[in-house]
Amino acid sequence: MSDTAAKTYPPSDAMAKGAHVNAETYTRMYEASVSDPDGFWREQGERVDWIKPFTQVKDVDYTLGNVHINWYADGELNVSANCIDRHLETRGDQTAIIWEPDSPDDEAKHITYKELHANTCKMANTLRDLGVGKGDRVILYLPMIPEAAYAMLACARIGAIHSIVFAGFSPDALAARINGSEAKIVITADEAPRGGRNTALKTNADQALLHCKDTVKCLVVKRTGGQTTWVEGRDYDYNALAAEAATTCEPEVMNAEDPLFILYTSGSTGQPKGVVHTTGGYLVYAAMTHEISFDYHDGDVYWCTADVGWVTGHSYIVYGPLANGATTLMFEGVPTYPDASRFWQVCEKHKVNQFYTAPTALRALMGKGDDFVKSADLSSLKVLGTVGEPINPEAWKWYNEVIGGGRCPIVDTWWQTETGGHLMTPLPGAHAMKPGAAMKPFFGIKPVVLEPTSAEELKGDPAEGVLCITDSWPGQMRTIWGDHERFEKTYFSDYPGYYFTGDGCKRDADGDYWITGRVDDVINVSGHRMGTAEVESALVAHGKVAEAAVVGYPHDIKGQGIYCYVTLMGGEEPSEELRLELRNWVRTEIGPIASPDLIQWAPGLPKTRSGKIMRRILRKIAEDDFGALGDTSTLAEPAVVDDLIENRMNRK
Ligand code: WT7
Repeated sequence: MSDTAAKTYPPSDAMAKGAHVNAETYTRMYEASVSDPDGFWREQGERVDWIKPFTQVKDVDYTLGNVHINWYADGELNVSANCIDRHLETRGDQTAIIWEPDSPDDEAKHITYKELHANTCKMANTLRDLGVGKGDRVILYLPMIPEAAYAMLACARIGAIHSIVFAGFSPDALAARINGSEAKIVITADEAPRGGRNTALKTNADQALLHCKDTVKCLVVKRTGGQTTWVEGRDYDYNALAAEAATTCEPEVMNAEDPLFILYTSGSTGQPKGVVHTTGGYLVYAAMTHEISFDYHDGDVYWCTADVGWVTGHSYIVYGPLANGATTLMFEGVPTYPDASRFWQVCEKHKVNQFYTAPTALRALMGKGDDFVKSADLSSLKVLGTVGEPINPEAWKWYNEVIGGGRCPIVDTWWQTETGGHLMTPLPGAHAMKPGAAMKPFFGIKPVVLEPTSAEELKGDPAEGVLCITDSWPGQMRTIWGDHERFEKTYFSDYPGYYFTGDGCKRDADGDYWITGRVDDVINVSGHRMGTAEVESALVAHGKVAEAAVVGYPHDIKGQGIYCYVTLMGGEEPSEELRLELRNWVRTEIGPIASPDLIQWAPGLPKTRSGKIMRRILRKIAEDDFGALGDTSTLAEPAVVDDLIENRMNRK
């Protein structure tokens, strides 16, 4: 699939002509960005407005024991002023956010930059009145409603650090994040409508707060008006407070390296880690990639279907687009409600020009048939994007032909929570796309392919190995909240001198990049990252489970599914009831997104003589690939494997 003979899709002449970046400018700018990074990023730093201009550009060291990453470190700015205030004069009456509610029968909202300013200030003043100040942590546990954007920008305005917890996470997961970040306050809503069903967010928050310090406050936004319990002295009614709050609020002066947000994400070991992004470099990088990757032009309507609970929502619904003065669409619902035409109906209704979604959604919609698409007029679309996982060629072709009508370039953006913004993607006006390839590094990004065991840099083409990045870029994460040592160990110790991405990759004979998936114990379920260790620790926390091993396996819609091998405590018998119980158990421990797809009862797990579970073998069994089990001679009890293979049909 990665040979040069594969069909390529060059940009149309019109696209190449009108785009911010064409083939020639890409080559020239890329050269400049890697030969003189300081000069390049000094110039790009001008994308944002500085209260105090920076004089330093980059101060980075990847040496173990001394890892630090600083960009524009003596500059001062405010992110909210950059996303709102600086646009007021020129585009105060332009729509900043189009909000499309869960139900198409409810009215969409068009929020202008002026209104965004007033609403963000109200939220900021409310938070200040509740005692939140610079450096304090604020947890957001919200539906996809405009208040989520107001709350993010309000935190940025007063210098508080937000940490968004996806509304699909359980009370336990929420509590862990409130406690891990030592947050002062949780902002939530009464209920979250999604796909016609309401999730009781406030009830979840109530349960979480039972496990938190009793000083943690709770600010509740009204979404549905659904009944909630109320704890006097702890709970605050946002709508009542906002009605009284002033519509102006002086933005706090922030240093470029002050934290902007923490976002928890799964790793290959242990509990989720709090990825820290800072103020100046992050904003420059989010704004630049948003403009160039999607070829966003003034006046365009841009829609990213992600949730603000993920990094995609941070960089490409809120910060990047708003820094660019864009019109960004925020969708509360799901692709299949009321039916599988919803995405396309929304594209038609709001005349969307750039549309950005995940392969898992495309695969699910593709399966429902083309009639759902044909009912909508998609002629406004100019550029399509995908993110989160490799896209299979069938889904790519469907996206290109049925959604894009063969006219719209597809940007397959490869990046991570850690990277803040796109690191590799074809650019709409510059590159001949190959279905499934992340193609080319973004400006300033120097990818290398390393031989996994020797760490030798594979310089020729083609090459296949682990993907690392030489050097830094402004949007890079700075640390793990409260655990800098784990940061160094996770990203800079396996391949010294590089940032290790955790992904495998191929570079084809043309020098184009293809992401092959994670090389660590992280799996990618519907474009969401899940640590197998987290699911394992949830399972073994159940009283009837002695041991568990979790791996990913190929899943038609989700990309990867969650496959659990479970060893029960002595005296416990496998049963369908227990299977159901374990599934529900994991849903409560972590959230519905971690729900096991398959559970196989395993009387024993394959281990080395030193007791290490051999996941390589478990992965192969889950994939039904028994011919390739590899060397099993180091196993303590080789018979365990035969049993697992024999009983593999006992998986549900
Ligand atoms: C992992 C990061 C970045 C926002 C969404 C996920 C995989 C991401 C692609 C792509 C192939 C991709 C990688 C990466 N991934 N985008 N275009 N092609 N794989 O963020 O949860 O931090 O996950 O998602 O494996 O390491 P995340």
